Amino acid sequence: MKRAAVIGWPIEHSRSPLIHGHWLQKHGIDGSYTKIAVRPEEVAGFLAGLAKQGLAGCNVTLPHKEAAFRAADERDASAIAVGAANTLWLEGKRLFAANTDTYGFMRHLEVSAPQWRTRDRPVLVLGAGGAARGIVYGLLEAGVGEVRVANRTLTRAEEIAGHFGRHVRALGWEAAAGAAGDAGLLINTTSLGMAKTGPLDFDVARLPEDAVVADIVYVPLETELLAAARARGLACIDGLGMLLHQAVPGFTRWFGVVPEVTAELRQIIVADIEGH
Ligand code: ATR
Repeated sequence: MKRAAVIGWPIEHSRSPLIHGHWLQKHGIDGSYTKIAVRPEEVAGFLAGLAKQGLAGCNVTLPHKEAAFRAADERDASAIAVGAANTLWLEGKRLFAANTDTYGFMRHLEVSAPQWRTRDRPVLVLGAGGAARGIVYGLLEAGVGEVRVANRTLTRAEEIAGHFGRHVRALGWEAAAGAAGDAGLLINTTSLGMAKTGPLDFDVARLPEDAVVADIVYVPLETELLAAARARGLACIDGLGMLLHQAVPGFTRWFGVVPEVTAELRQIIVADIEGH
């Protein structure tokens, strides 16, 4: 039997077992995917012992993504760009690391709002944390000519611009509204708008009428930002789609089948989110 897991501290809230469990069942695979709580001081030892524990690999969530990156023997370009990994797998004795959040976001965008690509316009990214870094990397790989990164702490936006070079421009938070008028795509990568944080104060009326609006927050499923965008008739990309798509590469590595993100799977996770 092939085994995989998600590790974190805490880990109870993770919805990854629901996603991978659905795919295991659907494909009739003799495998398992469980949650394992791993303390920060134990993570290096845990990852060094993956094979001994019979694991083909694992997903990694907070606060272990940087430790996972360091533990790996090989890292994909997205993990290197972010300095963190969320997916690990063994090839023989070698441990491979990937950051599939970038793939998850870009794939969801491609599938759910393919029109974004036909427009050669700037992209406005709100936030400059790890999530923003991965998304900026994905956008540049996709050929975006100008990414504007607006953040409360300007120096973090400047670090991203410094890392990725001339196609990225750093802005202070108050400059975000003024940078929206010609943006083809707006992406919220901050935690603002989550059930437990304050609201994101951004007026979608500033965006062009054919802009696409994306939020990586998925609890609530429809953030105030997305609700306002939808009310204006803008195309919306929600955070749940990113979560579902980011799971595909890991499952493929561990279990040898490329799974599909379907409406049925989405409904399972929606029911779980709404039930809590
Ligand atoms: P992640 O790795 O998930 O992106 P992070 O590194 O903690 O998480 O980044 C969180 C992002 O949300 C940052 O851009 C943060 O802004 P700062 O760099 O200024 O901290 C942003 N953020 C969080 N709370 C915020 C708030 N109240 N107002 C504006 N931005 C906020």
